[in-house]
Amino acid sequence: MGKHLLLPLVILSLLLGFLQALYCFHCNRVNASGYCECGGTICKTKKYQQCYLGKVYEGSTFSFGYQGCRNLCFPFMRRSHKSTLQVTCCNKTSFCNKF
Ligand SMILES: *[C@@H]1O[C@H](CO)[C@@H](O)[C@H](O)[C@H]1NC(C)=O
Ligand SMILES: *[C@@H]1O[C@H](CO)[C@@H](O)[C@H](O)[C@H]1NC(C)=O
Repeated sequence: MGKHLLLPLVILSLLLGFLQALYCFHCNRVNASGYCECGGTICKTKKYQQCYLGKVYEGSTFSFGYQGCRNLCFPFMRRSHKSTLQVTCCNKTSFCNKF
């Protein structure tokens, strides 16, 4: 294989890898100021995974949140007596689940 073919191939495989996997912010608890309280990391999606963002509101005030990679993510909103849990999912771009 000629050397001139190598670079396009490398770029192509990088692009394909980029399309398949997504990087998402991962944090088990993000406080009301948007600060990750437990050492945030980054996760990489596998097949069927998406980035998700969970937000918990007390009344109409944002209380805390969490974010990461999730299998078969479905967005939903659940209201209980006083608090609301809202989960959103995204897979368009890496780090799309930021606060
Ligand atoms: C969130 O955490 C940061 C860092 O610990 C802190 O400075 C900030 O006051 C916290 N915000 C709330 C609303 O607790
Ligand atoms: C990406 O998101 C779209 C729309 O939300 C969804 O239809 C599609 O299945 C998702 N892809 C993956 C790999 O989850």
